[in-house]
Amino acid sequence: MAFSFSPPSLTGLAPTLPRRARPSRLRLVCSASTAVSFDYKTYMAEKAAAVNKALDESVPVLFPELIHEAMRYSLLAGGKRVRPVLCLAACELVGGSPVSAMPSACAVEMIHTMSLIHDDLPCMDNDDLRRGVPTNHRVYGESIAVLAGDALLALAFERVAAATPSDLVPAARILRAVAELASRVGSRGLVAGQVADMAATGAAEPVGLDRLEYIHLNKTAALLEAAVVMGAVVGGGSDEQIERLGRYARCVGLLFQVVDDVLDVTKSSEELGKTAGKDLATDKTTYPKLIGLERSREFAAQLNREAKEQLAGFDPEKAAPLLFLADYIAFRQN
Ligand code: FPP
Ligand code: MG
Repeated sequence: MAFSFSPPSLTGLAPTLPRRARPSRLRLVCSASTAVSFDYKTYMAEKAAAVNKALDESVPVLFPELIHEAMRYSLLAGGKRVRPVLCLAACELVGGSPVSAMPSACAVEMIHTMSLIHDDLPCMDNDDLRRGVPTNHRVYGESIAVLAGDALLALAFERVAAATPSDLVPAARILRAVAELASRVGSRGLVAGQVADMAATGAAEPVGLDRLEYIHLNKTAALLEAAVVMGAVVGGGSDEQIERLGRYARCVGLLFQVVDDVLDVTKSSEELGKTAGKDLATDKTTYPKLIGLERSREFAAQLNREAKEQLAGFDPEKAAPLLFLADYIAFRQN
């Protein structure tokens, strides 16, 4: 991905919102002359509920029940649904109906879930806790956990190809959405990031900022980018809009990971719903390790700003959900 930041020059950037006691209605300042009020709690609750319903309906408990139960166990364990909401918001921003983007929204959540099931396996991170409950392999065993991940991956592509409403979205756009997703989750995207991350852990050579950025742009940002780009594609966005939204998502994706690194060293396992302090315990290269906690926070603030800049050409009212989501990711506490 030809996208880079210059993290060293990050001093003096203040977050746009205070960390505590944030109101549920945000006044988002989009430019010097425009300000928009947005009830994000209602928005997130409504979108997450719609996504949860669609996910639930996507995985009926058919024979053999065990595999479908294992898929449902992790898929419906109550994540924040940030990726699907990004997908729906991008679709609506370019003038599409959320109905058009729901299969894509479900697909990115399925792939996110399967990547975490596999990441938690004994052959990778060997984790016991995910989203506050025992990991998939701890409940169903390793073989079923591997297969549940595989099945979710296949189902994700099936949903986009077969369930995107063809009366609303031309076939060429559905095909493009499938390709945009595939290119970002394979060996040039999510898988590449995971492999580079594994190679970096315990490597003899120290991992620098460039390699860390490569890892996060692929391991984390690629799927967020897929979510936003797919939403914009099925929503009928122009190539320029799709490109800008892709850049927004890469900033937000990197932001997500910088915040994740910070939370790992500042929060407890109970607060996170997963094992805290693991990066330090496993000597993992993180932003706090390379540039310190304070500069990591400043870098997060810069990424948040850069993400929002990508939305400058859009109608501020329609862009409110994506503006908010950048803040939501920047200031999340778990
Ligand atoms: C969590 O990272 C892991 C990921 C974000 C991605 C893992 C990707 C794979 C296992 C590849 C999946 C395969 C396909 C085909 C997409 P982390 O361990 O840093 O975070 P954690 O503390 O939440 O576990
Ligand atoms: Mg992990």
